Amino acid sequence: MQEKGLEKQEILNILEKKLDKDYSYDSGSILGSMCTKPFDFAVEIYKKYISKNLGDPGLFSGTAELEEELVAEIAELFHGRNIIGTFTTGGSEANLIAMRIAKKLRPDITNPEVVVPSSAHVSFDKAADLLGIKLRKAKLLKNFNLDLEHFESLITKDTCGVVGIAGTTSLGLIDPIEEIGRFTEDKEIFFHIDAAFGGFILPFLEELNYNIPPWDFSVKSVDSITADPHKMGLGIIPSGGFFLRDSSILKNFGFEIPYLAGGNFKHFQIVGTRSGGTVIGFWVILKSLGINGFKEIVKKCMENTNYLAKRINEIKGIKLATDPVMNVVGITTENGKSICQIDENLRNEKWMVGKFEDFNLIRVVIMPHVQKIHLQNFAEDLDKIVKKLNYV
Ligand SMILES: Cc1ncc(COP(=O)(O)O)c(C=O)c1O
Repeated sequence: MQEKGLEKQEILNILEKKLDKDYSYDSGSILGSMCTKPFDFAVEIYKKYISKNLGDPGLFSGTAELEEELVAEIAELFHGRNIIGTFTTGGSEANLIAMRIAKKLRPDITNPEVVVPSSAHVSFDKAADLLGIKLRKAKLLKNFNLDLEHFESLITKDTCGVVGIAGTTSLGLIDPIEEIGRFTEDKEIFFHIDAAFGGFILPFLEELNYNIPPWDFSVKSVDSITADPHKMGLGIIPSGGFFLRDSSILKNFGFEIPYLAGGNFKHFQIVGTRSGGTVIGFWVILKSLGINGFKEIVKKCMENTNYLAKRINEIKGIKLATDPVMNVVGITTENGKSICQIDENLRNEKWMVGKFEDFNLIRVVIMPHVQKIHLQNFAEDLDKIVKKLNYV
């Protein structure tokens, strides 16, 4: 650290140079991220209320009430009543909270296990590692759907929780939530839904008359849901969300914090200090966009998704891994050759897609920042690369 502070302009110049290496959402290069440019008005509001700390809700009771209001609004969107919840740093923290609850509810199990689909996000591996839970991973079928029979076979007397995914990381697929729910009926098994990505797209796809199977609190046995504002909610990075059906769980398993300036409160978040600005920012997004605004955004994403899917179908040597059900397009090779070289060549052309080696596919997430022109250029480059590599 230098002795003397630098002038503002000098700092800005240094910063600009250093951050020049970063990719920008506007460039169209970012095709493989589930995050996007936050909604402008939310950014403005976030800056205004940047110092609000929900880790000490007694000091910021207005913000805390607003968080509750927002949870209630989202609960309604997810067909739930009297749901409690919290905003988190992201889907990983929300999933960790869910896994902790699943374990806590079954103190009778010495070696607790959680059954997840093989397509589950790595945050479940992290949670299992931290909590000393054994993850049992259910296989996928050839079409990447969950092998339900295998899933059921992994449920034992040591199972404290099961997970279904509404919007898988790799392909945006929706697990058969009702069917998984049947496995947990009349059993003391916590049923968590990871809708980190799907949470803020599925309700609007439903409004647009897409045929969406039940995935939320409308399924009787669903206990909790992860849904992230900073993905399809256009929220400030970082902001995730955790929603829980049974509010008594918080009373029983929250951590008492006795020293807070605002008075005694219970935390069930993993972090202590947490942003109020991101929560207020998301409240503003819901107020600004309403259902219709979200529907418009989702409709546009789906039009672009269908456009890309059509272009992929026209390129010989590659194919869609599966028909997209939301704004995620998985691309694999026709002849079973590795996708890695295609990914590497795309990166050289500055197309930053996601690579899933286990499934031999690359993933394009058609977020709101992705424009049709970006996809046109991408498809042209992809076509050239596939020809150059002789994949045809
Ligand atoms: C389905 C799913 N769950 C959880 C996460 C983790 O979210 P985060 O990166 O916000 O922690 C992701 C990230 O992409 C995801 O796709």
